[in-house]
Amino acid sequence: MPGITIGDTVPNLEVETTHGKFKLHHYFANGWTILFSHPGDFTPVCTTELGAMAAYTEEFKKRGVKLLGLSCDDIASHNEWIKDVEAYSGGHKVTYPIIADPKREIIKQLNMVDPDEKTPNGQQLPSRALHIIGPNNMVKLSFLYPASTGRNMDEIVRALDSLQKAAKHKVATPVNWKPNDKVVISPSVNDDEAKKMFPQGFETADLPSKKGYLRFTQV
Ligand code: BEZ
Repeated sequence: MPGITIGDTVPNLEVETTHGKFKLHHYFANGWTILFSHPGDFTPVCTTELGAMAAYTEEFKKRGVKLLGLSCDDIASHNEWIKDVEAYSGGHKVTYPIIADPKREIIKQLNMVDPDEKTPNGQQLPSRALHIIGPNNMVKLSFLYPASTGRNMDEIVRALDSLQKAAKHKVATPVNWKPNDKVVISPSVNDDEAKKMFPQGFETADLPSKKGYLRFTQV
């Protein structure tokens, strides 16, 4: 599939949004941004998702993360639909901008096209794509969900917490990790280095191979 993926730099496109025109890198400002697309305004699952994004805005703000939505509807449609989204989400305000991409150029460049969903007149639609952009405008994580499956906000926050933890320490987060759980030490760090990097200590799982690669610590 064409377009960006993990490790790529997001192109510095100029975008038209509900908060005016800007260049993507200017918006990212060398920080963290969640850039997410939805198939269309005034559709049921999308209304629940954008309402949940509004409700979670404070969680994202605490982590220094900006939000940026995107669909192929125009600005007038976004602004009209936002009233429904806010009403449905119990009055949580949509304070994040939503990009309008009626020409379908941005969804192609950002790898957000749904291969199956089309408008009644055959135009392409975005999938429920989500890129977490880290400092330096780089894609750190991508989700690609079909129109039929709404995303899980807690999983987005959890993945973000994992990315930010890994960016700060030479660690990775194991299956079903949650904040305050133990993390694992990267295989690129040998035991001598690990003793210096993690003075709090680490435990090595005793596995049949005796290779000592599964090491847990608390950071
Ligand atoms: C929805 O948001 O419910 C939806 C949008 C496009 C296709 C299918 C479902």
